[in-house]
Amino acid sequence: YRVWLSEIMLQQTQVQTVIPYFERFERELPTLRDLAEASPDRVIALWAGLGYYARARNLHAAAKICVEKHGGELPDDFESLAALPGIGRSTAGAILAQAHGQRHAILDGNVKRVFCRYHGIDGWPGTGSVEKQLWLVAEQHLPQTRLADYTQAIMDFGATVCTRASPSCVLCPLQHACVALREGRVEQLPQPKPGKPLPERSAVVLLLRDATGRVLLQRRPSTGVWAALWSLPEAPDHAVACDWFDAHVDGDGRGVRSFDLRRSGGGGGGGRRLVGLDDGQGIAREGHATGELVQLQPIEWEPMVGVRSDDDERSYQTDSDLQSIIVELANKIATPEPFSETLPRYADEGLFW
Ligand code: ADE
Ligand code: SF4
Repeated sequence: YRVWLSEIMLQQTQVQTVIPYFERFERELPTLRDLAEASPDRVIALWAGLGYYARARNLHAAAKICVEKHGGELPDDFESLAALPGIGRSTAGAILAQAHGQRHAILDGNVKRVFCRYHGIDGWPGTGSVEKQLWLVAEQHLPQTRLADYTQAIMDFGATVCTRASPSCVLCPLQHACVALREGRVEQLPQPKPGKPLPERSAVVLLLRDATGRVLLQRRPSTGVWAALWSLPEAPDHAVACDWFDAHVDGDGRGVRSFDLRRSGGGGGGGRRLVGLDDGQGIAREGHATGELVQLQPIEWEPMVGVRSDDDERSYQTDSDLQSIIVELANKIATPEPFSETLPRYADEGLFW
């Protein structure tokens, strides 16, 4: 369970970032059964800040399957393990090698980079034929013993020696046999994905407060960007936002002012931009090369009184609650300060109110 949890957390996130989340998750949900029985919101709350929330949803779904079908244990055979949500071929191999010393290859991003360079393999590693070649190589390199150590070592080697931006070739124990080094192609390998511009989408979000200052959150649809997470109500444009307001909010929507977060950075640079990318796995941050780029432009309404009551899909939250609920959007607005501190600061800059 611990190896599985750590592998899922480490899929898109660096070790240093993962450690406190892992420790808290393990403390709060120490066994697979605890995870299976936890509420979805609790699991998501423990994931808050790690991003790629599909990982948490899959983890939860897989734990339930383990209770139903595998006697409450994570299966230790490759086929059953790889059939669970969120566990692909590489993660299944990593779990079985590290937890049970079984002999399976792994091929995560770091390991792909190492093999592309060491063997001088051309082409984007996401291409089917290149990936096939890489799996063959990964299997050929497997030792006969100490599979847990080997598996951890090759991942750590990619993360610390053969790094993406500045590999330490002069210190590298593989330097004498490395094809990329010999041919002066370390910087060219692995080859990048052939260019394809990200689609861009703008949206507006509504920042609605009730008489006591609480902020209205709405659960997002179960698919797409930030699926099923709580966030500020979102609309594709100002007009649709006004319609939403009229339909759902008992109050006066006049006096609306637009607020473009891209101009709100506060000194220097390109300003603060809200971006989320959905690559089908969950949410990536700006700079990741897949999915849809979203630019959100929150609008500020006059503070509201007497708006509709809470229900399953809509809920008012105090600023302090916003810190414990999963609001990726609020995180993005507020990071790194708490929501409550950020809003007054915008006000200071004359952007709000
Ligand atoms: N990324 C995925 N699994 C990992 C591991 N076991 N150690 C370091 N980084 C990882
Ligand atoms: Fe990576 Fe450089 Fe070592 Fe080759 S010599 S494996 S490119 S660190």
